[in-house]
Amino acid sequence: MSELEPERFFPLLRGGLGNPYLYEVETPSTQDLLRDSGYPHGAVAVAEHQTAGRGRSGRSWDDTPSTALLCSVLLRPPVAAPLPQLSLVVGLAVAGAIEREADVRAVVKWPNDVLIEGRKVAGVLLEASEGVVVCGIGINVNQEERDLPPVVRIPATSLGIAAGRPFDRGLVLASVLVELERRYTDWIAGGLACLEDELERRNALRGRRVRVAGRAGMAGAIAPDGRLTIVLDRGDTVLVESGEVELLPLEKRCR
Ligand code: BTN
Repeated sequence: MSELEPERFFPLLRGGLGNPYLYEVETPSTQDLLRDSGYPHGAVAVAEHQTAGRGRSGRSWDDTPSTALLCSVLLRPPVAAPLPQLSLVVGLAVAGAIEREADVRAVVKWPNDVLIEGRKVAGVLLEASEGVVVCGIGINVNQEERDLPPVVRIPATSLGIAAGRPFDRGLVLASVLVELERRYTDWIAGGLACLEDELERRNALRGRRVRVAGRAGMAGAIAPDGRLTIVLDRGDTVLVESGEVELLPLEKRCR
């Protein structure tokens, strides 16, 4: 029996997220199990395998069955939630859960990748409609090197590779839900300012040369509204709301 099946997972469940809990062996995307579903705040869907997993920017999210944690969490924020901020909240929660379970340092590459030692271990995809946000979380858990995608944008890793041992995906999911609930509650009460210290500590881009939306410079802090500070090569400072971040080597000249 898989560790994600309700009988195995329910005893691990703590806190308010995970009710109801939907488990599928195979489904196109866990996002679609919750979208337009009418389920309450806190509903969670997981699958052993997705046949049409979605990533950000129209990319696909592929998996080797029963190795990854593929889950979606339905949130109903009390007021219209700024999605870029919520995306960071989820990213921090995933990084916190990874650190707790695997005892390896995990950081957030703005806006929503989670990295271990410069390699992507998890991604977050938020899809919103009519007061509902479905937070998709994909964590590489027990993949071996041969299961991971070839390096296209950023090299990938898994918890198993990073820590040198296999993980119970149910324990990882239970941790993600606890860490997310705590940060989400703080954020609803006081905004990203409540998570300022952790954002700074887990900001993978601080001090790195980056290019976002065609503009190159040195990445700095994540502002309290979730925007990334960049000191451009020509000297002025901009705050970037969203976009794909390209990491540049220090010596690379940008046109
Ligand atoms: C990214 O880094 O591009 C985001 C990846 C998000 C993948 C997860 S897996 C569970 C959920 N269902 C999907 O189809 N996508 C998200």
